[in-house]
Amino acid sequence: MLKAASLPSEITSALPEGYYFRDLQKSDKGEVLAVLAVLTTVGDITDSAWDERFEYISKHDDTYTVLCIVDDGGKVCATGSLIVERKFIRNCGLVGHIEDIAVAKDQQGKKLGLRMIHALDCIAEKAGCYKSILDCSESNKGFYEKCGFKFAGIEMAHYY
Ligand code: ACO
Repeated sequence: MLKAASLPSEITSALPEGYYFRDLQKSDKGEVLAVLAVLTTVGDITDSAWDERFEYISKHDDTYTVLCIVDDGGKVCATGSLIVERKFIRNCGLVGHIEDIAVAKDQQGKKLGLRMIHALDCIAEKAGCYKSILDCSESNKGFYEKCGFKFAGIEMAHYY
C-alpha cells in the first residue's frame, strides 16, 4: 500500500508549517501510546509486546497502515490506522476500515484529524478499496461528516 512518503502533495502540503506525515516506527512506542490515550484505555504495554505487534503490522503492510503526524518539534502529535479487508462479495472487493484516530489534546483543532482521515482515505482508494468505513461515537459524528463521511448505520459490539 501507499507509504506516507508517497502521499500526494495536496494532502501533505495542507499540514501546518513544519508538520509532516510518516509511517509508524518501532521507536514511537512512548509518543504514540501517549497520543492514543486521548482515545481510550491503552494499558500497560511492555516493550516486547509493542515490538511483537509492530513486527506483525510491518510484516502485513498490504493490510495494515499506521500513520503518524509529527509536529514542528519532531514529536508525534496524531495517529490513525487503516486496515484493508479482503472480501468475497463485490467481486472479491476490498473495504478500508479506519481505526484509532487520535490527536494529542494540545494539538486538537488544527485540522490534523481531518488531514489524517484524508490521508488514510487516499491510501484506501489507491489500494483499490470500493469504500472506507468507521465506527464512532455520536459526539464525533460532526467531525467525520466534515471529513466527507456519511451516516450509514449503527455500530453493534459484543465485548469479551
Ligand atoms: N464534532 C463536530 N465537529 C468536530 C468535532 C466533533 N467532535 N471535532 C472536530 N470537529 C470539526 C472541527 O471544528 C473542524 O471543523 P471546520 O473545518 O469547520 O473548522 C473539522 O471538524 C476538522 O477538525 P480537526 O481540527 O481536524 O479536528 P482534530 O484535529 O481536533 O481531530 C478528533 C478530531 C480526531 C476527533 C480529535 O479531537 C481527537 O483525537 N479526539 C479524541 C479521540 C477520538 O475521539 N478519536 C476518534 C475516535 S473514532 C475512530 O477512531 C474511528
